[in-house]
Amino acid sequence: MSKLIFPDGFLWGVATASYQIEGGVTQDGRGESIWDRFSHTPGKILNGDTGDVACDHYNRYKQDVQLMKELGIKGYRFSIAWPRIYPQGRGQLNRKGIDFYNSLVDELLSSGIEPAVTLYHWDLPQALQDMGGWDNRDVANYFADYAFKMYDVLGDRVKIWITHNEPWVVAFLGNAFGIHAPGYTDFALAVRISHNLMLSHAKAVQAYRQAGGKGGQIGITLNLTPVYPASDNPEDMEAVRLVDGGQNRWFLDPVFKGEYPEDILALYQEKLNAPVIKDGDMEFIADHPVDFLGVNYYSRAVVKKGRETDFEHVRPEGVYTEMDWEVYPDGLYDLLIRIDRDYNSPDIYITENGAAFKDDKVADDRIDDQDRLDYLKAHFEAAHRAIHDGVKLKGYYVWSFMDNFEWTFGYSKNFGIVHVDYDTMERTPKKSALWYREVIGNNGII
Ligand code: FCB
Repeated sequence: MSKLIFPDGFLWGVATASYQIEGGVTQDGRGESIWDRFSHTPGKILNGDTGDVACDHYNRYKQDVQLMKELGIKGYRFSIAWPRIYPQGRGQLNRKGIDFYNSLVDELLSSGIEPAVTLYHWDLPQALQDMGGWDNRDVANYFADYAFKMYDVLGDRVKIWITHNEPWVVAFLGNAFGIHAPGYTDFALAVRISHNLMLSHAKAVQAYRQAGGKGGQIGITLNLTPVYPASDNPEDMEAVRLVDGGQNRWFLDPVFKGEYPEDILALYQEKLNAPVIKDGDMEFIADHPVDFLGVNYYSRAVVKKGRETDFEHVRPEGVYTEMDWEVYPDGLYDLLIRIDRDYNSPDIYITENGAAFKDDKVADDRIDDQDRLDYLKAHFEAAHRAIHDGVKLKGYYVWSFMDNFEWTFGYSKNFGIVHVDYDTMERTPKKSALWYREVIGNNGII
Protein backbone atom coordinates (compact mmCIF):
# COMPACT_ATOMS: atom_id res chain seq x y z
CA MET A 1 0.00 0.00 0.00
CA SER A 2 1.16 3.53 -0.65
CA LYS A 3 2.15 5.90 2.13
CA LEU A 4 -0.54 7.87 3.89
CA ILE A 5 0.91 11.17 5.01
CA PHE A 6 -1.23 13.58 7.00
CA PRO A 7 -1.22 17.39 6.60
CA ASP A 8 1.61 19.29 8.29
CA GLY A 9 0.84 20.15 11.88
CA PHE A 10 -1.76 17.40 12.20
CA LEU A 11 -2.32 17.02 15.93
CA TRP A 12 -1.77 13.43 17.07
CA GLY A 13 -2.98 13.00 20.59
CA VAL A 14 -4.42 10.84 23.30
CA ALA A 15 -7.47 11.46 25.48
CA THR A 16 -8.61 10.76 29.03
CA ALA A 17 -11.23 12.06 31.46
CA SER A 18 -10.87 13.16 35.07
CA TYR A 19 -13.10 10.66 36.87
CA GLN A 20 -11.73 7.78 34.81
CA ILE A 21 -8.08 8.29 35.73
CA GLU A 22 -7.47 10.76 38.56
CA GLY A 23 -8.45 8.99 41.78
CA GLY A 24 -7.64 11.19 44.77
CA VAL A 25 -11.34 11.84 45.18
CA THR A 26 -11.04 13.27 48.67
CA GLN A 27 -7.60 14.78 48.23
CA ASP A 28 -6.88 18.48 48.55
CA GLY A 29 -10.46 19.57 49.08
CA ARG A 30 -12.14 17.99 46.04
CA GLY A 31 -15.92 17.91 46.49
CA GLU A 32 -18.20 14.99 45.76
CA SER A 33 -19.35 14.42 42.19
CA ILE A 34 -22.37 12.54 40.89
CA TRP A 35 -20.02 9.77 39.77
CA ASP A 36 -18.69 9.31 43.31
CA ARG A 37 -22.24 9.00 44.52
CA PHE A 38 -23.31 6.72 41.68
CA SER A 39 -20.30 4.39 41.77
CA HIS A 40 -20.78 3.94 45.51
CA THR A 41 -24.40 2.96 45.03
CA PRO A 42 -24.56 -0.84 45.21
CA GLY A 43 -25.37 -2.55 41.94
CA LYS A 44 -24.57 0.33 39.62
CA ILE A 45 -21.03 -0.58 38.56
CA LEU A 46 -19.67 -3.96 37.57
CA ASN A 47 -17.82 -5.63 40.46
CA GLY A 48 -18.58 -2.64 42.68
CA ASP A 49 -15.66 -0.73 41.14
CA THR A 50 -15.31 3.00 41.80
CA GLY A 51 -13.06 5.82 40.65
CA ASP A 52 -11.70 6.35 44.19
CA VAL A 53 -8.19 5.44 43.13
CA ALA A 54 -8.50 4.79 39.38
CA CYS A 55 -5.03 5.23 37.81
CA ASP A 56 -3.95 7.51 40.65
CA HIS A 57 -3.13 10.05 37.99
CA TYR A 58 -3.74 12.88 40.46
CA ASN A 59 -0.53 11.82 42.19
CA ARG A 60 1.31 10.45 39.18
CA TYR A 61 0.61 13.01 36.50
CA LYS A 62 4.26 13.96 36.09
CA GLN A 63 5.23 10.42 35.30
CA ASP A 64 2.24 10.12 32.95
CA VAL A 65 3.21 13.22 31.04
CA GLN A 66 6.78 11.94 30.86
CA LEU A 67 5.52 8.73 29.29
CA MET A 68 3.43 10.67 26.77
CA LYS A 69 6.55 12.55 25.83
CA GLU A 70 8.49 9.33 25.37
CA LEU A 71 5.73 8.09 23.10
CA GLY A 72 6.06 11.20 20.97
CA ILE A 73 2.50 12.30 21.69
CA LYS A 74 1.76 15.83 20.50
CA GLY A 75 -1.59 16.58 22.08
CA TYR A 76 -3.30 15.58 25.30
CA ARG A 77 -7.03 15.95 25.81
CA PHE A 78 -8.01 15.75 29.47
CA SER A 79 -10.95 16.97 31.47
CA ILE A 80 -11.19 19.12 34.55
CA ALA A 81 -13.01 17.78 37.58
CA TRP A 82 -15.39 20.63 38.33
CA PRO A 83 -15.67 19.58 42.02
CA ARG A 84 -11.90 20.05 42.40
CA ILE A 85 -12.34 23.69 41.43
CA TYR A 86 -15.66 24.39 43.12
CA PRO A 87 -16.34 21.60 45.65
CA GLN A 88 -19.96 22.76 45.89
CA GLY A 89 -20.20 23.54 42.19
CA ARG A 90 -20.20 27.32 42.84
CA GLY A 91 -19.16 29.81 45.47
CA GLN A 92 -16.06 28.82 47.39
CA LEU A 93 -13.09 28.22 45.09
CA ASN A 94 -10.56 25.49 45.91
CA ARG A 95 -7.09 26.83 45.12
CA LYS A 96 -5.51 23.41 45.28
CA GLY A 97 -7.71 22.23 42.45
CA ILE A 98 -6.51 25.14 40.33
CA ASP A 99 -2.92 24.38 41.32
CA PHE A 100 -3.23 20.82 40.08
CA TYR A 101 -4.40 21.74 36.59
CA ASN A 102 -1.91 24.60 36.43
CA SER A 103 0.96 22.21 37.07
CA LEU A 104 -0.43 19.62 34.69
CA VAL A 105 -0.61 22.20 31.91
CA ASP A 106 2.91 23.45 32.66
CA GLU A 107 4.21 19.92 32.68
CA LEU A 108 2.61 19.26 29.30
CA LEU A 109 3.91 22.43 27.71
CA SER A 110 7.42 21.89 28.94
CA SER A 111 7.23 18.43 27.37
CA GLY A 112 6.12 19.86 24.04
CA ILE A 113 2.57 18.53 24.37
CA GLU A 114 -0.39 20.73 23.46
CA PRO A 115 -3.15 20.58 26.08
CA ALA A 116 -6.82 20.36 25.11
CA VAL A 117 -9.23 20.85 27.98
CA THR A 118 -12.73 19.41 28.31
CA LEU A 119 -14.73 21.36 30.86
CA TYR A 120 -17.40 18.76 31.46
CA HIS A 121 -16.73 15.06 31.16
CA TRP A 122 -19.59 14.01 33.41
CA ASP A 123 -18.43 14.64 36.99
CA LEU A 124 -21.04 17.19 38.03
CA PRO A 125 -20.64 18.42 41.61
CA GLN A 126 -23.15 16.47 43.70
CA ALA A 127 -24.23 19.71 45.39
CA LEU A 128 -25.57 20.91 42.03
CA GLN A 129 -27.33 17.60 41.43
CA ASP A 130 -29.01 18.13 44.79
CA MET A 131 -30.61 21.23 43.34
CA GLY A 132 -31.86 19.38 40.26
CA GLY A 133 -28.66 19.02 38.27
CA TRP A 134 -28.89 19.90 34.59
CA ASP A 135 -32.67 20.04 34.85
CA ASN A 136 -32.18 23.30 36.74
CA ARG A 137 -31.35 26.12 34.33
CA ASP A 138 -29.28 27.86 37.02
CA VAL A 139 -26.75 25.05 36.66
CA ALA A 140 -26.06 26.29 33.13
CA ASN A 141 -25.04 29.63 34.67
CA TYR A 142 -22.82 27.97 37.28
CA PHE A 143 -21.21 26.02 34.46
CA ALA A 144 -20.44 29.24 32.60
CA ASP A 145 -18.98 30.79 35.79
CA TYR A 146 -16.76 27.77 36.32
CA ALA A 147 -15.76 27.82 32.64
CA PHE A 148 -14.90 31.53 32.85
CA LYS A 149 -12.68 30.83 35.84
CA MET A 150 -10.81 28.12 33.95
CA TYR A 151 -10.29 30.33 30.88
CA ASP A 152 -9.00 33.01 33.18
CA VAL A 153 -6.54 30.68 34.89
CA LEU A 154 -5.41 28.48 32.01
CA GLY A 155 -6.36 30.43 28.89
CA ASP A 156 -2.90 31.94 28.46
CA ARG A 157 -1.54 28.43 27.89
CA VAL A 158 -4.47 26.23 26.82
CA LYS A 159 -5.56 26.92 23.25
CA ILE A 160 -8.06 24.13 22.65
CA TRP A 161 -11.24 24.10 24.75
CA ILE A 162 -14.19 21.75 24.72
CA THR A 163 -17.34 22.67 26.60
CA HIS A 164 -19.13 19.33 26.86
CA ASN A 165 -18.22 15.76 26.20
CA GLU A 166 -21.07 13.81 24.59
CA PRO A 167 -24.23 15.62 25.72
CA TRP A 168 -26.32 12.75 24.30
CA VAL A 169 -24.70 10.38 26.79
CA VAL A 170 -25.06 12.86 29.65
CA ALA A 171 -28.73 13.44 28.97
CA PHE A 172 -29.93 10.01 27.90
CA LEU A 173 -27.67 7.42 29.53
CA GLY A 174 -27.81 9.38 32.77
CA ASN A 175 -31.47 10.37 32.85
CA ALA A 176 -33.50 8.19 30.47
CA PHE A 177 -31.74 4.82 30.64
CA GLY A 178 -30.37 5.13 34.17
CA ILE A 179 -27.06 3.45 33.45
CA HIS A 180 -24.90 6.50 34.09
CA ALA A 181 -24.97 9.01 36.95
CA PRO A 182 -27.31 10.35 38.25
CA GLY A 183 -29.25 7.25 37.23
CA TYR A 184 -32.77 8.45 36.36
CA THR A 185 -35.15 6.73 33.96
CA ASP A 186 -37.30 9.56 32.73
CA PHE A 187 -37.18 10.26 29.01
CA ALA A 188 -38.83 13.68 29.25
CA LEU A 189 -36.29 14.69 31.88
CA ALA A 190 -33.48 13.60 29.54
CA VAL A 191 -34.88 15.69 26.69
CA ARG A 192 -35.24 18.72 28.94
CA ILE A 193 -31.67 18.21 30.08
CA SER A 194 -30.39 17.93 26.52
CA HIS A 195 -31.69 21.43 25.87
CA ASN A 196 -30.20 22.83 29.07
CA LEU A 197 -26.88 21.28 28.10
CA MET A 198 -27.02 23.07 24.75
CA LEU A 199 -27.83 26.28 26.56
CA SER A 200 -24.96 25.77 29.00
CA HIS A 201 -22.67 25.05 26.05
CA ALA A 202 -23.60 28.36 24.41
CA LYS A 203 -23.12 30.16 27.72
CA ALA A 204 -19.67 28.65 28.08
CA VAL A 205 -18.81 29.75 24.54
CA GLN A 206 -20.04 33.25 25.37
CA ALA A 207 -17.87 33.24 28.49
CA TYR A 208 -14.89 32.25 26.36
CA ARG A 209 -15.39 35.19 24.01
CA GLN A 210 -15.86 37.47 27.03
CA ALA A 211 -12.67 36.17 28.60
CA GLY A 212 -10.89 37.29 25.47
CA GLY A 213 -10.21 33.94 23.84
CA LYS A 214 -6.47 34.61 23.97
CA GLY A 215 -5.88 33.17 20.54
CA GLY A 216 -7.45 29.81 21.27
CA GLN A 217 -10.45 27.93 19.93
CA ILE A 218 -13.52 26.48 21.56
CA GLY A 219 -15.83 23.68 20.47
CA ILE A 220 -17.98 20.85 21.70
CA THR A 221 -17.52 17.09 21.52
CA LEU A 222 -20.44 15.00 20.28
CA ASN A 223 -20.68 11.23 20.15
CA LEU A 224 -21.85 10.68 16.61
CA THR A 225 -22.99 7.40 15.15
CA PRO A 226 -23.64 7.04 11.44
CA VAL A 227 -26.87 5.12 11.04
CA TYR A 228 -27.51 2.66 8.21
CA PRO A 229 -30.71 0.87 7.22
CA ALA A 230 -30.89 -2.91 7.46
CA SER A 231 -32.51 -2.87 4.00
CA ASP A 232 -33.68 -0.31 1.46
CA ASN A 233 -37.22 -0.90 2.55
CA PRO A 234 -38.83 2.54 3.20
CA GLU A 235 -39.80 1.50 6.72
CA ASP A 236 -36.16 0.85 7.55
CA MET A 237 -35.17 4.18 6.03
CA GLU A 238 -37.73 5.77 8.32
CA ALA A 239 -36.07 4.03 11.27
CA VAL A 240 -32.76 5.59 10.16
CA ARG A 241 -34.32 9.04 10.12
CA LEU A 242 -35.51 8.63 13.71
CA VAL A 243 -32.33 7.19 15.17
CA ASP A 244 -30.09 9.60 13.29
CA GLY A 245 -32.40 12.43 14.31
CA GLY A 246 -32.31 11.61 18.01
CA GLN A 247 -28.60 10.86 18.27
CA ASN A 248 -26.92 13.05 15.70
CA ARG A 249 -29.10 15.83 14.30
CA TRP A 250 -30.57 16.62 17.73
CA PHE A 251 -27.14 17.97 18.72
CA LEU A 252 -25.51 18.90 15.42
CA ASP A 253 -28.39 21.13 14.33
CA PRO A 254 -28.44 23.39 17.40
CA VAL A 255 -24.63 23.62 17.42
CA PHE A 256 -24.38 24.58 13.75
CA LYS A 257 -27.78 25.97 12.81
CA GLY A 258 -29.10 27.24 16.13
CA GLU A 259 -32.26 25.15 15.79
CA TYR A 260 -33.50 21.67 16.59
CA PRO A 261 -34.43 19.33 13.75
CA GLU A 262 -38.12 19.95 13.20
CA ASP A 263 -39.13 16.31 12.90
CA ILE A 264 -37.57 15.24 16.20
CA LEU A 265 -38.65 18.37 18.03
CA ALA A 266 -42.24 17.80 16.97
CA LEU A 267 -42.04 14.19 18.14
CA TYR A 268 -40.61 15.07 21.56
CA GLN A 269 -43.04 17.90 22.09
CA GLU A 270 -46.02 15.82 21.14
CA LYS A 271 -45.05 12.73 23.13
CA LEU A 272 -43.16 14.20 26.08
CA ASN A 273 -44.02 17.84 26.23
CA ALA A 274 -40.28 18.48 26.18
CA PRO A 275 -37.89 20.23 25.90
CA VAL A 276 -38.80 23.49 27.58
CA ILE A 277 -37.44 26.16 25.27
CA LYS A 278 -37.76 29.69 26.58
CA ASP A 279 -37.98 32.82 24.48
CA GLY A 280 -34.56 33.75 23.20
CA ASP A 281 -32.90 30.37 23.90
CA MET A 282 -32.48 29.42 20.26
CA GLU A 283 -31.28 32.87 19.27
CA PHE A 284 -28.76 32.73 22.08
CA ILE A 285 -27.49 29.34 20.96
CA ALA A 286 -27.33 30.55 17.34
CA ASP A 287 -25.37 33.62 18.42
CA HIS A 288 -22.57 31.56 19.96
CA PRO A 289 -21.05 29.38 17.25
CA VAL A 290 -18.13 27.04 17.82
CA ASP A 291 -14.67 27.22 16.28
CA PHE A 292 -14.53 23.46 15.71
CA LEU A 293 -16.43 20.25 16.25
CA GLY A 294 -15.05 17.40 18.35
CA VAL A 295 -16.16 14.01 17.08
CA ASN A 296 -16.10 10.84 19.17
CA TYR A 297 -16.45 7.86 16.90
CA TYR A 298 -16.45 4.22 17.91
CA SER A 299 -18.91 2.36 15.71
CA ARG A 300 -22.00 2.57 13.52
CA ALA A 301 -25.64 1.66 14.05
CA VAL A 302 -27.74 -0.49 11.75
CA VAL A 303 -31.48 -0.23 12.27
CA LYS A 304 -34.78 -1.48 10.94
CA LYS A 305 -38.44 -1.00 11.70
CA GLY A 306 -39.27 -2.99 14.83
CA ARG A 307 -42.22 -5.35 15.02
CA GLU A 308 -43.99 -3.16 17.50
CA THR A 309 -41.63 -0.23 17.70
CA ASP A 310 -40.52 2.49 15.31
CA PHE A 311 -37.01 1.10 15.18
CA GLU A 312 -34.78 -1.62 16.45
CA HIS A 313 -31.05 -2.21 16.27
CA VAL A 314 -29.62 -4.98 14.12
CA ARG A 315 -26.33 -6.72 14.83
CA PRO A 316 -24.54 -7.25 11.51
CA GLU A 317 -21.94 -9.98 10.98
CA GLY A 318 -18.48 -8.60 11.54
CA VAL A 319 -15.63 -8.06 13.95
CA TYR A 320 -16.61 -6.77 17.39
CA THR A 321 -14.65 -5.22 20.24
CA GLU A 322 -14.98 -6.18 23.90
CA MET A 323 -17.73 -3.56 24.21
CA ASP A 324 -19.61 -5.53 21.58
CA TRP A 325 -19.23 -2.58 19.24
CA GLU A 326 -18.78 -3.46 15.58
CA VAL A 327 -15.44 -2.47 14.03
CA TYR A 328 -16.56 -0.29 11.12
CA PRO A 329 -13.94 2.20 9.90
CA ASP A 330 -15.95 3.21 6.82
CA GLY A 331 -18.46 4.67 9.26
CA LEU A 332 -15.87 7.24 10.29
CA TYR A 333 -15.33 8.24 6.68
CA ASP A 334 -19.06 8.47 5.99
CA LEU A 335 -19.63 10.47 9.15
CA LEU A 336 -16.88 13.00 8.43
CA ILE A 337 -18.06 13.51 4.87
CA ARG A 338 -21.63 13.97 6.02
CA ILE A 339 -20.72 16.56 8.66
CA ASP A 340 -18.64 18.41 6.11
CA ARG A 341 -21.49 18.39 3.61
CA ASP A 342 -24.44 19.13 5.92
CA TYR A 343 -22.83 21.56 8.33
CA ASN A 344 -20.77 23.86 6.14
CA SER A 345 -17.31 22.29 6.38
CA PRO A 346 -16.34 22.98 9.98
CA ASP A 347 -12.90 22.34 11.40
CA ILE A 348 -13.03 18.95 13.07
CA TYR A 349 -10.97 17.10 15.62
CA ILE A 350 -11.56 13.46 16.32
CA THR A 351 -11.60 13.83 20.08
CA GLU A 352 -11.99 10.10 20.75
CA ASN A 353 -11.54 6.91 18.82
CA GLY A 354 -10.23 3.61 20.07
CA ALA A 355 -11.17 0.12 21.13
CA ALA A 356 -11.46 -2.19 24.11
CA PHE A 357 -9.93 -5.61 23.68
CA LYS A 358 -9.05 -8.41 26.04
CA ASP A 359 -5.30 -7.78 25.97
CA ASP A 360 -4.58 -11.39 26.82
CA LYS A 361 -1.62 -11.91 24.49
CA VAL A 362 1.86 -11.08 25.67
CA ALA A 363 5.07 -11.08 23.65
CA ASP A 364 8.45 -9.84 24.92
CA ASP A 365 6.85 -8.75 28.20
CA ARG A 366 4.57 -6.49 26.28
CA ILE A 367 0.85 -6.67 25.60
CA ASP A 368 0.60 -7.71 22.00
CA ASP A 369 -2.57 -5.82 21.13
CA GLN A 370 -2.50 -6.33 17.38
CA ASP A 371 -6.32 -6.07 17.39
CA ARG A 372 -6.19 -2.53 18.80
CA LEU A 373 -3.38 -1.59 16.44
CA ASP A 374 -5.41 -2.86 13.47
CA TYR A 375 -8.46 -0.98 14.69
CA LEU A 376 -6.55 2.29 14.96
CA LYS A 377 -4.79 1.81 11.66
CA ALA A 378 -8.04 1.21 9.79
CA HIS A 379 -9.58 4.30 11.35
CA PHE A 380 -6.54 6.46 10.59
CA GLU A 381 -6.86 5.31 6.99
CA ALA A 382 -10.53 6.29 6.94
CA ALA A 383 -9.65 9.70 8.39
CA HIS A 384 -6.94 10.17 5.79
CA ARG A 385 -9.40 9.39 3.03
CA ALA A 386 -11.81 11.98 4.44
CA ILE A 387 -9.05 14.62 4.53
CA HIS A 388 -8.17 13.75 0.97
CA ASP A 389 -11.82 14.31 0.04
CA GLY A 390 -11.85 17.77 1.59
CA VAL A 391 -12.77 17.32 5.25
CA LYS A 392 -11.01 19.85 7.48
CA LEU A 393 -9.75 17.37 10.04
CA LYS A 394 -7.11 18.96 12.26
CA GLY A 395 -6.23 16.28 14.77
CA TYR A 396 -6.93 12.90 16.25
CA TYR A 397 -7.02 11.88 19.90
CA VAL A 398 -6.82 8.17 20.59
CA TRP A 399 -9.05 6.93 23.39
CA SER A 400 -7.34 6.24 25.61
CA PHE A 401 -3.86 7.05 26.79
CA MET A 402 -4.10 4.34 29.45
CA ASP A 403 -6.51 1.71 30.73
CA ASN A 404 -8.99 3.28 33.12
CA PHE A 405 -12.38 3.27 34.82
CA GLU A 406 -14.84 2.56 32.03
CA TRP A 407 -17.98 3.88 33.78
CA THR A 408 -20.58 1.12 34.37
CA PHE A 409 -18.06 -1.49 33.28
CA GLY A 410 -15.58 -0.49 35.97
CA TYR A 411 -12.06 -1.73 35.27
CA SER A 412 -13.20 -4.65 33.12
CA LYS A 413 -12.69 -2.95 29.74
CA ASN A 414 -9.28 -1.88 28.53
CA PHE A 415 -9.11 1.01 26.10
CA GLY A 416 -5.56 2.11 26.82
CA ILE A 417 -2.62 2.02 24.48
CA VAL A 418 -0.75 1.91 27.79
CA HIS A 419 -1.46 -0.90 30.23
CA VAL A 420 -2.03 -0.09 33.89
CA ASP A 421 -1.35 -2.64 36.59
CA TYR A 422 -3.91 -1.58 39.19
CA ASP A 423 -1.98 -3.29 42.02
CA THR A 424 1.34 -1.61 41.45
CA MET A 425 0.12 1.31 39.30
CA GLU A 426 2.88 0.50 36.87
CA ARG A 427 2.31 1.78 33.32
CA THR A 428 3.52 -0.26 30.35
CA PRO A 429 3.06 0.83 26.75
CA LYS A 430 1.33 -1.83 24.66
CA LYS A 431 2.39 -2.72 21.15
CA SER A 432 -0.19 -0.24 19.81
CA ALA A 433 1.51 2.60 21.71
CA LEU A 434 4.87 1.84 20.15
CA TRP A 435 3.26 1.64 16.74
CA TYR A 436 1.48 4.96 17.39
CA ARG A 437 4.85 6.53 18.17
CA GLU A 438 5.97 5.53 14.67
CA VAL A 439 2.84 6.95 13.10
CA ILE A 440 3.34 10.24 14.89
CA GLY A 441 7.03 10.33 14.00
CA ASN A 442 6.19 9.78 10.32
CA ASN A 443 3.07 11.94 10.43
CA GLY A 444 1.29 9.08 8.80
CA ILE A 445 1.32 5.43 7.97
CA ILE A 446 4.22 4.15 5.88
C1 FCB B 1 -16.98 7.64 25.44
C2 FCB B 1 -16.58 8.45 26.63
C3 FCB B 1 -15.25 8.08 27.22
C4 FCB B 1 -15.01 6.58 27.18
C5 FCB B 1 -15.30 6.02 25.81
C6 FCB B 1 -15.06 4.55 25.67
O1 FCB B 1 -18.36 7.62 25.35
O2 FCB B 1 -16.54 9.81 26.31
O3 FCB B 1 -15.18 8.60 28.52
O4 FCB B 1 -15.72 5.97 28.18
O5 FCB B 1 -16.63 6.30 25.45
